[in-house]
Amino acid sequence: MKLKRKIGIVGTLGVLATMAYFSLLHLETTMIVDMRRLFRSNLTFATTCPSMQVRDDVTVTSRRPARTCEEVQHVVFAKTHKCGSDTLAIVFMRFADERNLTIMLPTGEWNLNWPGTLRKGVYHEPETRYFDVLTLHTVYNRSTIAPLFPPDTKHVTILREPYAQFASAFNYFGVGNKMKTTKNVSSQAEKFELFLSDPDSYLKQHYWPHLPNFMSFDLGFKPTTNHTGGDARRFVRNVVADFDLVMIMEYYHESLVLLRRRFCWHVASILFITKNKSWRRVFASAADRERAESLRALYARWSPVDIALYAHFNASLWESIAKEKSFAEEVWYFTELNQRVSVYCQKVIMRLNPPPEEFNVPESPWDAAFNVTSAMCARMRRNLLAYIASEKAKAGLNKLVVPTGT
Ligand SMILES: *[C@@H]1O[C@H](CO)[C@@H](O)[C@H](O)[C@H]1NC(C)=O
Ligand SMILES: *[C@@H]1O[C@H](CO)[C@@H](O)[C@H](O)[C@H]1NC(C)=O
Ligand SMILES: *[C@@H]1O[C@H](CO)[C@@H](O)[C@H](O)[C@H]1NC(C)=O
Ligand SMILES: *[C@@H]1O[C@H](CO)[C@@H](O)[C@H](O)[C@H]1NC(C)=O
Ligand SMILES: *[C@@H]1O[C@H](CO)[C@@H](O)[C@H](O)[C@H]1NC(C)=O
Ligand SMILES: *[C@@H]1O[C@H](CO)[C@@H](O)[C@H](O)[C@H]1NC(C)=O
Ligand SMILES: *[C@@H]1O[C@H](CO)[C@@H](O)[C@H](O)[C@H]1NC(C)=O
Ligand SMILES: *[C@@H]1O[C@H](CO)[C@@H](O)[C@H](O)[C@H]1NC(C)=O
Repeated sequence: MKLKRKIGIVGTLGVLATMAYFSLLHLETTMIVDMRRLFRSNLTFATTCPSMQVRDDVTVTSRRPARTCEEVQHVVFAKTHKCGSDTLAIVFMRFADERNLTIMLPTGEWNLNWPGTLRKGVYHEPETRYFDVLTLHTVYNRSTIAPLFPPDTKHVTILREPYAQFASAFNYFGVGNKMKTTKNVSSQAEKFELFLSDPDSYLKQHYWPHLPNFMSFDLGFKPTTNHTGGDARRFVRNVVADFDLVMIMEYYHESLVLLRRRFCWHVASILFITKNKSWRRVFASAADRERAESLRALYARWSPVDIALYAHFNASLWESIAKEKSFAEEVWYFTELNQRVSVYCQKVIMRLNPPPEEFNVPESPWDAAFNVTSAMCARMRRNLLAYIASEKAKAGLNKLVVPTGT
């Protein structure tokens, strides 16, 4: 505990110092932007990141070490639902695309047999012995997936705070509209409450095998009617054994930085543009705190495996982070860089005041200099269906059947 606090303080100081540094340079940036507005000129200012440059007199003292590790190129991403996993799937797609790796592509639209496990016929066979990367929805089962990938493949997934994940899934799958009830309820919030008051009876009305313990279901937990503590513990142990990295949506940038370090990836590879994020707040139950708490408790009783899973992996994420050096600094750097790249890509796409062809990222303690190109922006902005289609075309597979609905 003491150690944790110490690391926390050191980390905080580091971040504060880095923030101070960034805001100093920010002044410069703001001035130039204001000048541009003043003169209404088209100066091709600063698609570079001057503030990313590392000087000896700032907090980030570690010089970029020579690369001693080897980039991990074989990745199985167990895609969970409503966990920011579309965005992450694009990160893995783009990584594979930019290296011409073999992605497991669906014979159908975009799922690999979800809500079932992987089986022959749902994917296009690889030309070589193995696939390199899996990024699409299928119920995870290590023993069916692993033989299709090289032995050194890393298995990754992402989790989200379970109650929020469930609320998002309830909304996304239109559960409220499909529930049959004689009760006089109209709003989604009322339906959500009604559902949680007796979930098992509503589950019988529809094929929703995944609804309790949804993330665990995606990771291969077999739904049963009795989820005891023993089930949850056993399942968490399996996930610990099967996965090399479990990311956490609430700590997205931290998770990506950890991924970059563990997999010896370039900074460019983890850049992302958020996909399909729902900004709507559907359930405004927070108004009544007590009721919100009791709903949460109902949910927790009903989905204990997800609760246990999340608690375990959120804790282990932070344990891993505590062992890393200059982690907070890299998270700060990456967050800032990703934001700037998003803005650059936005301009590229909008074609307003077209920015230069390249966004120059100088050397940092974490990587060599690199350029973000407009072509890379286009790849980052692609949605998953479009990426699947373009990868199929690249692999010379059949044309995408235009998907109907979702
Ligand atoms: C930018 O300014 C230059 C010279 O002032 C001009 O020739 C050029 O057409 C301008 N470009 C755009 C995109 O407005
Ligand atoms: C990927 O394949 C394309 C087309 O064959 C080729 O032009 C490109 O250089 C390849 N890229 C890598 C990283 O191998
Ligand atoms: C995974 O698949 C294998 C082979 O089909 C099966 O025997 C096993 O029960 C599955 N494991 C889980 C956890 O579902
Ligand atoms: C249902 O509830 C609404 C308000 O909550 C009320 O106005 C309406 O009369 C009720 N309908 C019935 C059939 O009870
Ligand atoms: C669930 O299983 C536990 C033991 O594994 C048992 O004590 C409990 O009564 C069961 N609950 C239900 C609702 O069947
Ligand atoms: C993402 O959102 C778009 C537009 O709202 C929708 O058409 C698409 O089906 C969504 N994709 C997924 C994977 O949910
Ligand atoms: C995750 O773990 C951290 C560190 O223990 C804790 O501070 C945080 O509240 C947890 N996050 C959630 C969403 O439970
Ligand atoms: C990035 O682009 C600039 C031109 O804008 C070029 O001079 C530089 O060599 C490029 N850097 C890398 C790492 O490709």
